[in-house]
Parts: sequence; C-alpha cells; structure tokens
Amino acid sequence: MNLQSAVNLEDLRLLARQKLPRIAFDFIDGGVDDELCLKRNREAFAQYRLLPRYLRDVSRRDPSVVLFGRTYSSPIGISPTGLAGLWRPDADLMLAAAAREANVPFLLSSAANASLEDGMRVAPEHVWFQMYCTSDERINADLVQRANQAQPGVLVVSVDVPVNSNRERNRRNGFSRPLRMTPGVVLNAMGHPAWVLRYLRTGGIPMMRNWLPYAPEGANASQVADLYGTLTPAPMISWEHLRRIRDAWKGPLVIKGLLHPDDAREAARLGVDGLVVSNHGGRQLDVAPSPLEMLPAIRAAVGDRVELILDSGVRRGSDVVIARCLGARSAIFGRPTLYAVAAGGQAGVARALQIMRNEIDMVMAQIGCRRFEDLDASYLWTGAPRPAESGSSTCETSLPAVVHTAQRCG
Ligand SMILES: Cc1cc2nc3c(=O)[nH]c(=O)nc-3n(C[C@H](O)[C@H](O)[C@H](O)COP(=O)(O)O)c2cc1C
Repeated sequence: MNLQSAVNLEDLRLLARQKLPRIAFDFIDGGVDDELCLKRNREAFAQYRLLPRYLRDVSRRDPSVVLFGRTYSSPIGISPTGLAGLWRPDADLMLAAAAREANVPFLLSSAANASLEDGMRVAPEHVWFQMYCTSDERINADLVQRANQAQPGVLVVSVDVPVNSNRERNRRNGFSRPLRMTPGVVLNAMGHPAWVLRYLRTGGIPMMRNWLPYAPEGANASQVADLYGTLTPAPMISWEHLRRIRDAWKGPLVIKGLLHPDDAREAARLGVDGLVVSNHGGRQLDVAPSPLEMLPAIRAAVGDRVELILDSGVRRGSDVVIARCLGARSAIFGRPTLYAVAAGGQAGVARALQIMRNEIDMVMAQIGCRRFEDLDASYLWTGAPRPAESGSSTCETSLPAVVHTAQRCG
C-alpha cells in the first residue's frame, strides 16, 4: 500500500506503522491504562444512526463552516500534537502547509517542534496556537504576549493535563518525558533505517522551539526538553489563570479539554469563545466519558454563545456529521494527521484531509443535506420505538436518550 492507494484513515495508520519504529508509533497510537477510553471514543460514534432524506436535489453541496469570523472550506481541522518533529523533521510545518492548502485550521501545539512564529510564516491564515499553562506566570504571560504579537486566528488553552498520565506503552518501550533518546531507544529503531537516518541527519531530538526563549543561552534540544518537563504539567492552574489569559489575549479564546457541563458553563461566564470538547484522545483519564457522549449536555449548558468543536476518536466523515447533529460546529483529529505526516509528509496530510472531505461530502449527499451548517438532530435516528411504545406519546427512550428526548418531546 502507498499514499494514493490508502482509501481511509486506518490505511494511513497502517502505513505509519510500517514506517515508524515501534517506540514512535506506540507514542502516537497509545492511550492510558487499559486503553478503554481510546475504544470508547470510537464506540460512541457507533451508537448513532443517520436517517437519510431523499428527493432533495443534492447535486451541489456546501461543507464550509464559519468559525470565529473566518470561513473554512471543510468542517474539520488538525488537533494540536507535540513532538511531531520526531515522526518526520519539520512535520509541524508540513501540517501547517497542508491545512493552508485545504483551508482548514491547524492547531499548533506549544509542545510542537516548530515555534508559533515559524507556523505563522507558513500558514498565517490557518494557524491557531494551543498553549499549556506552565508553573511560571511570567512565561504564561509571555506566551500570550507572543500570541498577541503573532496573531494566530485563535488562542487555545489545553486544560486536561494537570499531571502526566499512565501511558503504559511508552513505559514498556522506554519512552520517557522529558524525552531522552538513549542508545537503547535508538537500537529499538534500527528496523526502520529511513527513520533512523532522518533522525540522525537532523541532529537527533528536535528542538521544542516555543521554549527556546526561556532556556539559557545556547541550550541544546535536550536541555530545552528538560526545561519544558520542569515547567509542565502545572497542576496548580485554576480558573484564575484562565481569567488572566482572557484579559490579556485580544482574539478568540478556546479552552480544550473540558468535559463537565458545569465547567463549560463557567468558561462561558468567563467570556471564552469556544470549547474543544475533548478527552485528549484517551491519553489522560481512562475512565473519562467520550466527548461525543458529553456534547449534548455541554451544548445545553452553554447555549448558542460558545462554539463547540469536537475532538477525540474522529476517523470518518460520518463522525463529523454526527458531531454537527449533536451541536458541534466542526470536528478535529490528532492521530490520523500524525500517521499521515509520518507516512508521506505534507502529501500524506493532504491525503488524510482529502479522504475526510470526500467522506463528509458523500455522507451529506446520502442523507439529503446540501449545507453542512444545516445539519441538526433531525438527521439522527435514535432507535425504533419498542412495541409497547408504538403510537404512544411517551418520551421514554431507548438510545441515546438526550437526542431522542429532544426530538420526540420538542
Ligand atoms: C502524539 C500526540 C501528541 C499530542 N500533543 C498534544 C499537545 O501538545 N497539546 C494538546 O492539547 N493535545 C495534544 N494531543 C491531543 C490531541 O490534540 C487530540 O486531543 C487527540 O489526538 C484527539 O484524539 P484522536 O487522536 O483520536 O483524534 C496529542 C495527541 C497525540 C496523539
């Protein structure tokens, strides 16, 4: 199989598995503990059915969405992922360029290897900046200041990593944080000489460029990674920090990682413009609900004032459509674009985005929807009434209760 013969995102995952040493592939692919959350994120989508409508002239379809005043060609985007330079040198810039070409947002992580400023040079209209708060208030303030200077479209603050999590694949493979490429780890990679050669040719561990300004003069990549490891995670971060960021940042502010409707309500009160509803792709708390399960309750909590973007487990165009029907404006995904960049660089990411675009378009036509923005809960079929219920006006439901109740009870 090669890039062009990859017919879905899973094919890109399999290609990446061939190309990457196990330690690298597992770092992307893995979850925490028993990886139940990882599975739950996929299973949540399988709970839903889309009920097609026909005879509606779907010869022209419009998948575009408006987010924070800007029109994007598709209701998808690239989730922030740190350390992407490890899978391919300059991976962040390839992700940014592919997002620019597809006219979708790219959330550049503060833990990326490219800096915010590098990303903005490649895709000034498409980069959003995702930051983690650190234990150093001056650095937090400086990151926001840099954002004000560079002007990414959106500032995204991820809040779902209060402490590091139990990623057992990484522990078994010897992948540690701060990252250290020991000879043992490199030896483990020898079955993938192309990756090893690239890794060695580019000087080993890639620099986490966003943190270079805070490191001592002349610090190497390993020392900068160590510094990052001392500054994050920052378990003391609270709503007060968010309030300060809201005051200091002039553009649209999004929080990534809230799952509780009360937290969503608090964010709305604070003046946050959007939420990425996410469980970090099942990489933090194995017993967390899937974001899709929480989406209707979060939508109800924040009303129409806050944009919702669904993240975690999105692998099919139909997933994006279902998320929209449940109240999200768009959906983003993390692992698939990393598999894609590992498998084929910028062309790989373009292929991943194209696959998703095609799938969304096809599903829209199949269900009789001309404009993605018109999708709502009326497209969801939520289970046949049980025989005893037929013809009754009861609002008792089978599956999934929130939407079913909303549809039948108005
Ligand atoms: C390798 C890797 C690195 C990640 N790094 C970050 C990060 O730096 N910041 C962040 O907010 N989320 C990070 N995430 C989480 C993603 O942004 C996203 O929430 C997750 O990948 C979504 O799930 P999916 O992979 O099933 O699409 C990372 C995920 C992966 C797989």
